[in-house]
Amino acid sequence: MWGRAMRHLVGLLLSFVIAAMACVTSAHGETTQEVVNKAPNGLALTPPMGWNSWNKFACNVNEKVVRDTANAMVASGMRDAGYQYVVVDDCWAGPRDSNGFITADPQRFPSGIKALADYVHSRGLKFGIYSDAGRLTCGGRPGSQGHEYQDALTYARWGIDYLKYDWCSTGDRNAKEAYAVMADALRQSGREIVFSMCEWGTAKPWLWAKNAGNLWRSTGDIFDSFDKQDDAHKSWAHTVTEIVDLNEPLWSYAGPGHWNDPDMLEIGNGGMTPTEYRSHFSLWAMMAAPLIAGNDIAHMDETTRSILLNKEVIAVDQDPLGVQGHRVWKDGDSEVWVKPLSGGAKGVVLFNRGEAPATIRATAQQVGAPARARVRDLWAHKYIGRWTGSIQATVEPHGVAMFRIGP
Ligand code: GLA
Repeated sequence: MWGRAMRHLVGLLLSFVIAAMACVTSAHGETTQEVVNKAPNGLALTPPMGWNSWNKFACNVNEKVVRDTANAMVASGMRDAGYQYVVVDDCWAGPRDSNGFITADPQRFPSGIKALADYVHSRGLKFGIYSDAGRLTCGGRPGSQGHEYQDALTYARWGIDYLKYDWCSTGDRNAKEAYAVMADALRQSGREIVFSMCEWGTAKPWLWAKNAGNLWRSTGDIFDSFDKQDDAHKSWAHTVTEIVDLNEPLWSYAGPGHWNDPDMLEIGNGGMTPTEYRSHFSLWAMMAAPLIAGNDIAHMDETTRSILLNKEVIAVDQDPLGVQGHRVWKDGDSEVWVKPLSGGAKGVVLFNRGEAPATIRATAQQVGAPARARVRDLWAHKYIGRWTGSIQATVEPHGVAMFRIGP
């Protein structure tokens, strides 16, 4: 009797211990990545728009360039057209202090990052910054590895709204883990910070980063050329057409809060013709790409301004349905692209990669537009008639014709 009671008691105790252990395992068994993956951060419901210093200024960025750019974004109408984030890329950072806190480069940013963020905010814009998942950034400044939570807290205190997070000097770090740690750190910082992952597509982030990052680079760096690759760039940088071909097949992975990022815009940097820059802008909009200008906004010419400020093309990019468009037909250098838009409308691009003018036709089967719709030319800014079941245009070399077909 006594023996049975004892066994019962021991059994009971054991099951308590086992249950308690199971509890501990489930509470602590989740990896940081699993925690981050549970839910999106609620930001970037349409592709982020703004400016980034890298494509034009590289390491020659400084606080005056950033202030001048912010002012020019207001004066040029870019802010009001939706370009919101002013992002300082690599080379803003100085050394870490004796407690490991990151400081600004005292020559380039003598007033400090907080003052610059305050200035940008005072112009009705948001402010972004850059770091790296390794020990060093690609430009050789301190990276965030080992300082993730400390850096996220510093950024929050400075008033940072957007972090671009690069992938140099990461050794054998696991990308999923590294990006999850910083995603978690940003969420714990108490500030809403858009997380822009810059891992170049190496570990296929479109397969796993949906709730970790708001955007992820899908390729190596862009360079300012339509389709002329050269020896200086070929190991790490891509022409516009190369990037298009790498990013296009990933269309099904994009959506509100999580976008494929085919890299920043080169419009206005001088390496392409206005026609090619219009194609670059149109295709980025069709791919629901982040529209991050990369030129000298304070000194841009009217052609550049008119491309970056084509509000009808911007509206295709920013459409709330958040579906990345893709190529539905190709024959040699001629292509038809379609992007579903809200309200049953369609964005359509006829793209001619070739060296001679080409007549390109999109059919009802390819476009799937409703029977009763109007056709608007988004570069001519006019309605060109009713949808009759197909649309055709003669497109200049390296150019596009772009339409909205809908109510
Ligand atoms: C990498 C990134 C670029 C830029 C530079 C900065 O190459 O892909 O976009 O941030 O680093 O050093």
